[in-house]
Amino acid sequence: MKSKRTRLDRFISMQLSVNSRDVKLMLAQKRIVVDGSIASDTQQLIDEFSHVVFDNKVLQSNSPRYIMMNKPIGVVSATKDEQHKTVIDLLANIALLSLKECANLHIVGRLDLNSSGLLLLTNDGRWSRRLTSPEKKITKLYRVTVENIITDDYVQAFAEGMYFSFEGITTRPVKLEIISDHVAELSLVEGRYHQIKRMFGRFRNPVLKLHRMAVGNLLLDPELSPGQCRMLTPSEVNYIG
Ligand code: URA
Repeated sequence: MKSKRTRLDRFISMQLSVNSRDVKLMLAQKRIVVDGSIASDTQQLIDEFSHVVFDNKVLQSNSPRYIMMNKPIGVVSATKDEQHKTVIDLLANIALLSLKECANLHIVGRLDLNSSGLLLLTNDGRWSRRLTSPEKKITKLYRVTVENIITDDYVQAFAEGMYFSFEGITTRPVKLEIISDHVAELSLVEGRYHQIKRMFGRFRNPVLKLHRMAVGNLLLDPELSPGQCRMLTPSEVNYIG
């Protein structure tokens, strides 16, 4: 999940196993090109998506990738799992990206094995940190179906927050809208372990279905059936939260 900036001279010296004097000379000889421009500054900063060329040989060329998946039930939000199929296995089967690119992806906000809906994957650590940073307070919208009737007192209990003794925290206010006796929609700004199931658990009301409908401004594309994915558009990448 790295997206650290690195000094160009350090990057070149690592890649080509040369010392800093050699790098200076290469720069003076205009042999290094970063993102299409001849580099001259040893202290120039590059990141994992900078395109770097030395003597017409590409040293680094990675494109940022942003993917939306409609995660099906029964698939694990992980990159590797001994028991179950993972979302990365699913993606590799679809062949939207090469296997190498799939291996570089990480998940932005997991969903439980039995939850479905909008799952985001990327290779851009800075973007995913922005989305998951607590200060940003990006809401995640879920639709939940439960076994017993949801009564009005749930709304206040969810809005007040619940104390989770294991973590020693009180959950941030959750907006709960009752859609019908057994169905509600909730907006969360955090993602504690099994948070929704544990909150309904306080009412001894088991969750039967849990589906993520949106993250920030980004709605799950209704064209995607369970297991399908697509790339985000540039405006979706920028305006998600
Ligand atoms: N809360 C849960 O309990 N499960 C999820 O998958 C997401 C939120």
